[in-house]
Amino acid sequence: MKRSVIKSTGRYLPSRHVTNEELTGMFDSSNEWIVQRTGIEARYWVGEGEDVGTSDLAYEAAIIALERANWNPEELDLIVFATMTPDLNVPGSGAFLQNRLGAKNVPALDIRQQCTGFLHGLEVCDAYIRSEKAQKILLVGAEYQSRYLELTTENRDTAVIFADGAGAACIEAVETSEDVGIITSILHADGKYSGALHAGLPARKSGHIISPDVIKNKEYLPYMDGKAVFRLAVTRLPKVANELLAKANMKIEDLDMVLPHQANLRINDAFRERMNIPKEKMYNNIQRYGNTTAATIPIALDELMEKNMLKSKDTIMFIGLGAGLTWGGVIYKLM
Ligand code: UT7
Repeated sequence: MKRSVIKSTGRYLPSRHVTNEELTGMFDSSNEWIVQRTGIEARYWVGEGEDVGTSDLAYEAAIIALERANWNPEELDLIVFATMTPDLNVPGSGAFLQNRLGAKNVPALDIRQQCTGFLHGLEVCDAYIRSEKAQKILLVGAEYQSRYLELTTENRDTAVIFADGAGAACIEAVETSEDVGIITSILHADGKYSGALHAGLPARKSGHIISPDVIKNKEYLPYMDGKAVFRLAVTRLPKVANELLAKANMKIEDLDMVLPHQANLRINDAFRERMNIPKEKMYNNIQRYGNTTAATIPIALDELMEKNMLKSKDTIMFIGLGAGLTWGGVIYKLM
């Protein structure tokens, strides 16, 4: 049976290191507030004056993953690109990445599922591999979100959280009778909550996409009802974690590591406590990177690999929730 195995990973953080102190010099906030309410101490943003797109961040992570897998871009059967901040609305960022990699004629699919983009990507890769449509897939999660932020007191809730970065994984079809690779996945969506976290353009209203009103009302900025998203996260993450465990016929003790989306350290702490997950079995890095949306999970996975924190036959749960509303998780077992 074909199984989807993560052969290698890579990550890229852009050049500008932004501390809480730097931000609190621009608007009314404090390092204490940001650390206490989010866990974030610093993040990386694309440097001022750097003309890059999200696909350029993805490229840097992708070439590391490809080199570690010893894969030539032309060998790929598919590129899957998860982002909520694409280079352009049309075409998708996958096309830009495909071109920069020189992955001649390789199909490139964009996934626009925000914080669960990488989880959706894993499920798509697994479906391609199990149905024998692909052998070698490059999956990336990348975001260039700093350009959407307004550094004002009015918009400080989003300004302190969102950040830039990219993570990549080379996913290979392995013929095996062992229960390894992607074991199972569950994804959910509930569009009823789409208003809780959204960015306003292109708007769902008549008239030209850019109008004086759009500019005056700053409709292009992201809007987040932080409290609502927070409440949804702390209730739905444990629920989907239990669904995943039941589907895989596992108990929480069977997991060696839990890698949650990095939206807020308090969300992950609440989830950990509710699920009785020991502290050392959950990996968080939001302190150093902020919330890089579709890139949080692959960046953290790359760090886990680099630090040798995972060993053969370890079982990991990837899990997350975000705009849409979308939420879900994946259980993965190392070869
Ligand atoms: O990955 C995407 C999914 N997104 C999420 O999962 C986000 C989930 N939500 C959150 O992370 C939190 O709700 C936030 C970090 C966004 C906000 O934390 P909170 O504890 O829910 O604060 P709050 O919105 O209830 O605001 C409390 C106070 C307010 O002031 P008043 O009305 O009590 O005077 C805010 O204006 O904190 C104020 N505030 C800030 N103060 C200093 C909001 N943002 C800031 C800030 N610095 N950056």
